[in-house]
Amino acid sequence: MTVVQVQPKEDILFQYFLDGKTHKKKSVSWRLLMVIIVGFCGLSLCFVRVGRRTLLKEAGLYGKDPVSHFHCPNILNNASNSIQLHYPRPKSYQRGECICTPVHFFVILSMQRSGSGWFETLLNDHPNISSHGEIFHRGSMQERNLNFIKRRIGEVYNLDYNSSAAKNVCTSAVGFKWMLNQGALEYHKEIISYFRKRGVSVIFLLRRNLLRRLVSILANAYDREAKLINGTHKSHVHSKQEAAELAAFKPTIKEDTLVDSFRKAVELSQNALKLFHGTRHIVIYYEDLVKNKKKLDQVQEFLGVRIVPLKSNQVKIHIQPLSDQIRNWDSVNKTLRGTEFEDFLADAEYI
Ligand SMILES: *[C@@H]1O[C@H](CO)[C@@H](O)[C@H](O)[C@H]1NC(C)=O
Ligand SMILES: *[C@@H]1O[C@H](CO)[C@@H](O)[C@H](O)[C@H]1NC(C)=O
Ligand SMILES: *[C@@H]1O[C@H](CO)[C@@H](O)[C@H](O)[C@H]1NC(C)=O
Ligand SMILES: *[C@@H]1O[C@H](CO)[C@@H](O)[C@H](O)[C@H]1NC(C)=O
Ligand SMILES: *[C@@H]1O[C@H](CO)[C@@H](O)[C@H](O)[C@H]1NC(C)=O
Repeated sequence: MTVVQVQPKEDILFQYFLDGKTHKKKSVSWRLLMVIIVGFCGLSLCFVRVGRRTLLKEAGLYGKDPVSHFHCPNILNNASNSIQLHYPRPKSYQRGECICTPVHFFVILSMQRSGSGWFETLLNDHPNISSHGEIFHRGSMQERNLNFIKRRIGEVYNLDYNSSAAKNVCTSAVGFKWMLNQGALEYHKEIISYFRKRGVSVIFLLRRNLLRRLVSILANAYDREAKLINGTHKSHVHSKQEAAELAAFKPTIKEDTLVDSFRKAVELSQNALKLFHGTRHIVIYYEDLVKNKKKLDQVQEFLGVRIVPLKSNQVKIHIQPLSDQIRNWDSVNKTLRGTEFEDFLADAEYI
């Protein structure tokens, strides 16, 4: 046993193992001590590991989150309406009793003053729809960055984005509003590929009468300065009286660029429709929604939610004939007569 020499003599533990005879008396107590030490180390290691695991688990940090023990049934994506469904696992809370409620992702692509604010209040009246409004305003440089855009959309679809529309737990359709001039078209290749991959359904909300839309844009821009209702700017109103106050402003419309600006707007929406053609989509016109509330059933069917009556507290602002709404009506009338936009003039289609 050459090893013996290498061990220091005073190392009593080694002596015990190597020379049982000379340390017989001590050996019993040492054996006991060893058992206790080894046992204690083992146990404490075990406790530390378990404790760590439990703590981390509670904090949702240990490996997969705790709910992953729980398996939702495999999603049978409905081939007949090609809705793709998901089980999001939000980071900020747990979905509780609706953990296995499948979620459908959607986006509303629209243009300013096309009724999308009103449309969203209708959608959000549904117990299982969360439509988060404009999550991009094109206000910051960040919002021109594709990674930022994707991250924010990801938050919405993971049910982590918080707004007054968030219903979280039992949401079964979640989406947001994206104006065509807020980056949706700029990155269309990447966005469309993202939408197709994640099964995002697109609701195009467009307004046919661009002259009415223009009146709304101008009145809204004017009110931003004038703040007609008690010194606050209102883009949407909730009473007839407020609506009348905002509608009292009659804009003067520049005739020379009118037709051109309409052509540009038509081009923008046609272009968007063409680009997003390959996504699952529906085209809804504001005018049809106003005239026929049944249109909302079609939207709910498209979103794959239970069809219920939906209502909004918002009140329509401009309800008079256009001729009473535009200061230089005669010249606008003359400008549009004989163009492809002539129909906009004789429009008494809704009250
Ligand atoms: C599939 O979608 C169709 C059309 O929306 C609907 O009638 C049907 O009930 C759906 N089936 C399932 C299993 O969800
Ligand atoms: C819709 O929401 C209600 C209320 O939160 C919930 O009880 C119901 O289970 C949800 N329905 C679906 C299909 O998710
Ligand atoms: C969302 O925001 C509301 C109001 O600011 C707040 O009460 C709620 O707790 C938030 N929800 C989550 C999940 O953060
Ligand atoms: C505006 O002021 C009037 C009276 O001064 C009041 O009745 C009304 O509630 C106010 N409206 C809002 C939106 O604050
Ligand atoms: C527009 O002008 C034509 C004649 O120039 C007139 O007949 C028509 O009534 C006008 N339309 C409206 C809505 O005022």
